[in-house]
Amino acid sequence: MKKRFYITTPIYYPSANAHIGHAYCTTMCDILARYKRMRGVETYFLTGTDEHGEKIQKNAEAKGVSPQQFVDEIANNFQNLWKAMKISNDDFIRTTQDRHVKVVQDVFSKLYQNGDIYLGRYEGWYCTPCESFWTDTQVGEEHLCPDCHRPVHKASEESYFFKTQKYLPNLLEIMDKNPKFILPINRKNEMMNTFIKPGLDDLCVSRTSFDWGVQIRENPKHVIYVWMDALTNYISALGYDSDNPEKFKKFWEDPDCEIVHIVGADISRFHVIYWPMFLMGLGLRVPDRVFVHGLLDLNGEKMSKSRGNVVSPLPLIDKYGVDTVRWFLAREFSFGSDGRFSPELFVERINVDLANNYGNLINRTSAMINKYFDGVVPELKNPSQKEKDLQFLTEKVIKNYENLMDDLKVTEALSEATELLNAANKYIEESQPWVLSKEGKIEELGNVMAVLTNSIIVGTKLLSPALVESSEKVFDQFGLPKELRSYESVYKFCPYTGLKVSKGNPLFPRLDPKIETEYIASLAAK
Ligand code: MSP
Repeated sequence: MKKRFYITTPIYYPSANAHIGHAYCTTMCDILARYKRMRGVETYFLTGTDEHGEKIQKNAEAKGVSPQQFVDEIANNFQNLWKAMKISNDDFIRTTQDRHVKVVQDVFSKLYQNGDIYLGRYEGWYCTPCESFWTDTQVGEEHLCPDCHRPVHKASEESYFFKTQKYLPNLLEIMDKNPKFILPINRKNEMMNTFIKPGLDDLCVSRTSFDWGVQIRENPKHVIYVWMDALTNYISALGYDSDNPEKFKKFWEDPDCEIVHIVGADISRFHVIYWPMFLMGLGLRVPDRVFVHGLLDLNGEKMSKSRGNVVSPLPLIDKYGVDTVRWFLAREFSFGSDGRFSPELFVERINVDLANNYGNLINRTSAMINKYFDGVVPELKNPSQKEKDLQFLTEKVIKNYENLMDDLKVTEALSEATELLNAANKYIEESQPWVLSKEGKIEELGNVMAVLTNSIIVGTKLLSPALVESSEKVFDQFGLPKELRSYESVYKFCPYTGLKVSKGNPLFPRLDPKIETEYIASLAAK
């Protein structure tokens, strides 16, 4: 594991308020960032908003406000949402900030001076919602954007172009030598077959038909293409090309920092093809991994404001708590695959994993420790095979969990951690503590409580990057002192003798499927 970790979300367009699909990527990054910090890795987690471009300018005009006023309000809403979701980002970059604008202009100048950029004329198609250029073949006879399937418009304007062929051999070599550069690995074939093999055109990197963007210093009637502007955020936020490049040195230039971009499938080509090429032109290192996640739909339909079927995470957080939303997003479908949000799936996931499995284990264990041992965790003495088996399983789960998380397999890692909780619930059934109590087998009964406590605390630590609020509550309920809250203590078995456990309130009350699915469905309908 490298000493440092730099993780980024895409920067979101503040063209409309965030929905649960946007919250998905940010939550997954947050879990990874929290996991790395928990492991003692110096971590920097960046998110932000991508505030320039034709789409924003048009939306602002439609609302009758200036583009800056328009983005100020929505960028603020994004930041409030991340607070509500307990996102632990270290910075929030906005592309209209001076610290960013200057760097974008410098980046353009450097690439221009290098001979990587030349002036020409763009004749082709443009999709404003995606801010993407497309060729005749790509838009087909119906002239629809291959990504969002909305109509594209013809663009014909003087533009600067970036020479992609210059860096293509280098990019192909990186992809070849580093099989983890694009993850999951099947995404690499998609990139090759859809964009690289058919022939990669030079990329148009400036626009003249509107002005809401970063001006090119050398030719101010052009604004820099919003994707070149946006991608630069990953280095401008670290202080690249500024008077204070400390973070850039630590989190970009230092080879002992792992650089990871997490992006949705719809924007992977910008991160996997053009961004590394820009970096090569600047003489900078390329990221270690670009992880491409799937898209979340709502009841089987693409979420979009125009269809009126977006769900905001806020009312869900208000009603069910932030951890339920984080858990659903992280656990419901595998990170990397497409997934679905529906009221039924949400209620079922929370009931099965959090209420029945995790919550129930905590309730039963704390109640039994109070009933049989006055709330004090007993010592593990002369463990039987059952306790040894559980110790073995705990060690295996920890190892698998760490390997999976380090491989960015967040869903699988969390699912591995729940194996420990399943095993602990099963262990209660098998060891029947109520019978041990009746028969006066106090030492055996004590062992069961000690091992259950260990399973709960270790399980909670492994889940804590996702369950940020409830993990703290569990540690409080089990009276965990500061020194035992560190991650390192998971490697010891049953070091919790003498802790005072309170009965506590159920952390995750079971949701009534009928009432709650109706309520959640009404949120989507609004
Ligand atoms: N501004 C660009 C990104 C620039 S990064 C240098 C952009 N913004 S976006 O707001 O349209 O999308 C941001 C991210 O949100 C993308 O990764 C996109 O995949 C993700 N999602 C938007 N809707 C989503 C779902 N329904 N499900 C999962 N992710 C979704 O593109």
